[in-house]
This record gives sequence, structure tokens and C-alpha cells, in this order.
Amino acid sequence: MNADTQSRNRFSVPLPVGALLVVVLVFVMLKLIRPVIPQSVILLYMGFVVLGVVIHLTLDDDRIRRFWNFFVRAGDEGPVLRAQRWALLAVLPLVAGWWAYDAVRPRYTPPVEIFQRHPTVGEEVLGRIQVPEWAANPAKWRAEDIAEGKKLYAANCAVCHGEKLDGNGPAAAGFRYPIRPADFRDVGTIAQLTMRYVYWRMTTGGIQNQFNSPMPRWVASADGPQVSTLHSYDFTPEEGWKVIIYLYRATGYEPRKEELRDYKSH
Ligand code: HEC
Repeated sequence: MNADTQSRNRFSVPLPVGALLVVVLVFVMLKLIRPVIPQSVILLYMGFVVLGVVIHLTLDDDRIRRFWNFFVRAGDEGPVLRAQRWALLAVLPLVAGWWAYDAVRPRYTPPVEIFQRHPTVGEEVLGRIQVPEWAANPAKWRAEDIAEGKKLYAANCAVCHGEKLDGNGPAAAGFRYPIRPADFRDVGTIAQLTMRYVYWRMTTGGIQNQFNSPMPRWVASADGPQVSTLHSYDFTPEEGWKVIIYLYRATGYEPRKEELRDYKSH
């Protein structure tokens, strides 16, 4: 090593630090370019850049030696050089670790498709659902049916929908996507649904259909594919209606009235 290299070393950035700066700078630039470059293309470019840097570093023996010397402690080195060495030795494993973590970490970003909470259900489906007489009129709901519904709710629904029907059951926090268990106290759920619609949801659940949620199927539908899932059809239709009237009584909402259809206007 001659005096020339020595002085260059003292006043310029050490080779490994310079190499890292080049890589980081190119990476940041690629990230800033708009429109956004796809991750895979950035990765490809970065591959070329790293390759170029490696070629540059290994072109002559002097560079290779200066590269490795940076990592070797010298008696006369200043605190700045030492700090740079330790910083580099700390940053590289951190970056590699983040990279590996980022590649495998689970992501819960919801898909871009719009989730329709209450899709319109045709009369050809809802028409097969009959509200039994004893359940149809809120004024005539019997206390023992509501009490029975309450028991069924506590045993089967509260774990997700919550003791207070607010969608905050102990299991609710486990569902990040698609959506949390319905909060029946919110005006956006049963308050704006008809009893037949709520019953239909208890026959469809959210599994293996457009709702794509962990909501089980509770009652067998009058027809339709009898796909078996966890809890599927634990309830008789009568039990299903009892839970539904309990939901309304406990939240204080009335079921939405069925619309009277004016067939002539169509
Ligand atoms: C494993 C958790 C879980 C259990 C247990 C569960 N649900 Fe759900 N339920 C959900 C989730 C999540 C949603 C919201 C996504 C959806 O609409 O499918 C939901 C939605 C609903 C809806 C639709 C509300 C709306 O506004 O469309 C009704 C009705 C319903 N549940 C009733 C019940 C009843 C009644 C029980 C008990 C017999 C029950 N659920 C048990 C998770 C559960």
C-alpha cells in the first residue's frame, strides 16, 4: 500500500460504505420514480446494480484489499472509521433480516373488490322462507320463545357476536378479514333487514359463498346445496326463528316490514 492510497483512504468514504450507499441510492431512486415500478422489476435492476458494484470492487487487487481492510481493525484508525465499520456490520444483517421477514410476513389487506353486505336476494329464494305465525308479529312474541332464543344465542352466537350483541365476542378479535361479526345494535344490520332475510343469512352463513366470512350456517335451507360445514344445521327452523326474535327484542329493533309489491308497475 502506498502513500497515495493511504491519503485517499483518509479523506474519502471507505469502499464498503460507498458500495452500500450506491446500492441504497439506486434503490431509493427506483422507489421514487413515478409511475411506480413493479417490485419484481426493481429487484431485477437491483440485481444488476449489485453485480456492477461487485465487479467494480473486484476489478483490481488494490480495491479488494481496501475492501477487506475496512473490516480489520487498524491501530491508527479514527473513531469515524470505527463507527462506520460498526454501523455497516449492524445495518447489513438488519436489512437482510427485514427482507426475509417482509417476504414471509402475513398480510391482511382486504382485496379491492367491494364487499356487499346485504346483496339483494330474489323472491325465488326468499319466497321459500315462511315466517311461522307465532314469530311473525312482534306484538305476539311469547316470553318463553324469546328466553329460549336467548339461551341459544348465548351458547352459539355470543362467542362471535358478543354477549351484548355488539359484535365483540371473545372470538371476534381473531377475524381481521373479511369483516368482523355483525354488531346487531348497529342500525346497519338487522334493523334494516326483514325477518326472512335474517333467516336466509342463517341458512347461508358466510362460508364458501360471497360473504366469505366465518359465520356458520345454522339452519338447513329448504332446498339448495346441503354443503356441510362446522355447525352446519345445528338448529331446527323453529330454533332459528327463536334466535331471530331474541335478536330483535334484545336490541329493541323491529324487523323491517316486507315491501308490498306492485306487480302491475313492472
Ligand atoms: C364464528 C363466528 C360467528 C358465529 C359463531 C356466529 N356468527 Fe353471525 N356472523 C359472523 C360474521 C363474521 C358476520 C359478518 C360477515 C357476514 O355477513 O357473513 C356474521 C354475520 C351475521 C348476520 C348477518 C348480519 C347482516 O347485517 O347481514 C347474521 C344475521 C348473523 N351473523 C347471525 C348469527 C346468529 C344468529 C348466530 C348464532 C346462532 C351467529 N351469527 C353466530 C360470525 C359469526
